[in-house]
Amino acid sequence: MRAWLGDAYPWIKSAHIVSMVAWMAGLLYLPRLYVYHSMAPIGSDRSDTFKVMERRLERGIMTPAMIATWGFGLVLAGTPEAVDWRMGWIWAKIALVVGLTAFHAALSRWRNAFGVDRNMHSTRFFRIVNELPTLALMAIVLLVVVKPF
Ligand code: HEM
Repeated sequence: MRAWLGDAYPWIKSAHIVSMVAWMAGLLYLPRLYVYHSMAPIGSDRSDTFKVMERRLERGIMTPAMIATWGFGLVLAGTPEAVDWRMGWIWAKIALVVGLTAFHAALSRWRNAFGVDRNMHSTRFFRIVNELPTLALMAIVLLVVVKPF
């Protein structure tokens, strides 16, 4: 098992990065759709089109990609000697990934509200939250590549 995990490590890391890119694409794009959706009149064709786009993005891409990112990431983390758990970067990364997962859940709640024409947030709100996954992505990549602490 130990030897197998060692040989498979770079393959699992590649799968982790590919699924992370798919998840991040959705985390960056879904709030951008909400920016435009919040400007569309309730009941309009435009609003209905956004509902379909948002549902397909979340259910078809983001949720499976999030599960795959977590799954491959946990296998990497569980590989013996792969991570030095005395270092701070891995804990900071895990904290940020938990934050991204909470952000995913918030996006899902806002999508449900849009789905029943009950969005309570402004266009400006979605513009601001749209920046959060970008900041998290930059910090996570720095942490895993540079391992500064
Ligand atoms: C979902 C939970 C996650 C876990 C448990 C996890 C865990 C890990 C582990 C243990 C490694 C190997 C580190 C090494 O070999 O030095 C790794 C690599 C990596 N992770 Fe994650 N990760 C997760 C999510 C993410 C997310 C959300 C991103 C980006 C936003 C990300 C980006 C990366 C990158 C770019 C690498 C490759 C680093 C390198 O070896 O150069 N991970 N991850």
